[in-house]
Amino acid sequence: MIKKCLFPAAGYGTRFLPATKAMPKEMLPVLTKPLIQYGVEEAVDAGIHTMAIVTGRGKRAIEDHFDISYELEHQIKGTSKEHYLTEIRGLIEQCTFSYTRQVEMKGLGHAILTGETLIGNEPFAVLLADDLCDGSGGAGVLSQMVRLYETYRCSIVAIEEVPREEVSKYGVIAAEEIEKGIYRVNDMVEKPALEEAPSNLAIIGRYILTPDIFEILRTTKPGKNGEIQITDALLEQARAGKVIAYRFQGRRFDCGSVDGFVEATNYFYRQGRS
Ligand code: G1P
Repeated sequence: MIKKCLFPAAGYGTRFLPATKAMPKEMLPVLTKPLIQYGVEEAVDAGIHTMAIVTGRGKRAIEDHFDISYELEHQIKGTSKEHYLTEIRGLIEQCTFSYTRQVEMKGLGHAILTGETLIGNEPFAVLLADDLCDGSGGAGVLSQMVRLYETYRCSIVAIEEVPREEVSKYGVIAAEEIEKGIYRVNDMVEKPALEEAPSNLAIIGRYILTPDIFEILRTTKPGKNGEIQITDALLEQARAGKVIAYRFQGRRFDCGSVDGFVEATNYFYRQGRS
């Protein structure tokens, strides 16, 4: 039912400079896999095979990653190293990838609106690759959310409790719990100051959005930091009772920060992932 996943991937990754000077931040590897590949795998795990990637200047490595490298294939064919490519080859076979460029960086809401041309008029998932998630119980976070969509049929945001002093890094919700771990959202604020935060329930980079969000985004005024915020557009849906927040099962690492990135690397390494 959810067939497409949008990956906003136009951001500069300033927190990882100089590593991200000539390389997209989405290509930073946790062990041997780039962040965006983890994201694509999570989407596939949720039954999604159409990847819609919003890129920008300097992001061509992402397109090359999800394509065949004939030179490399030729070099390692029949050697003991061939298995290194098995996983990525499998992904490329199972998925289609389409790209559009965000010409100006005007915020996450604007990036999502830029992706409309790849999504069309259907509900879709959004995955921010720098939030690296490891779902528990064998189901990825998107997969858990897609299941929830089948019941609620409205926009869904993934949330997690964060320490109070960190709320200003996130979109934060006010909501009433309607089932264990599932909330009806009635307010949301992008990166509030500690004293203005309605709770410590923070939105993390997984969304399911209904396509009316595009219409809303078209008229959403720049908000926090002068950017068009998805949180502000979602608030309009929330006022009509049409946003669910889901406290996902699993762990999430903020790979947009060096600390989170190191934590993720150690966690995946200890788990024997390669
Ligand atoms: C974005 C969203 C924010 C959300 C966060 C999750 O912020 O605007 O609401 O909480 O992703 O990672 P960013 O981290 O891109 O500044």
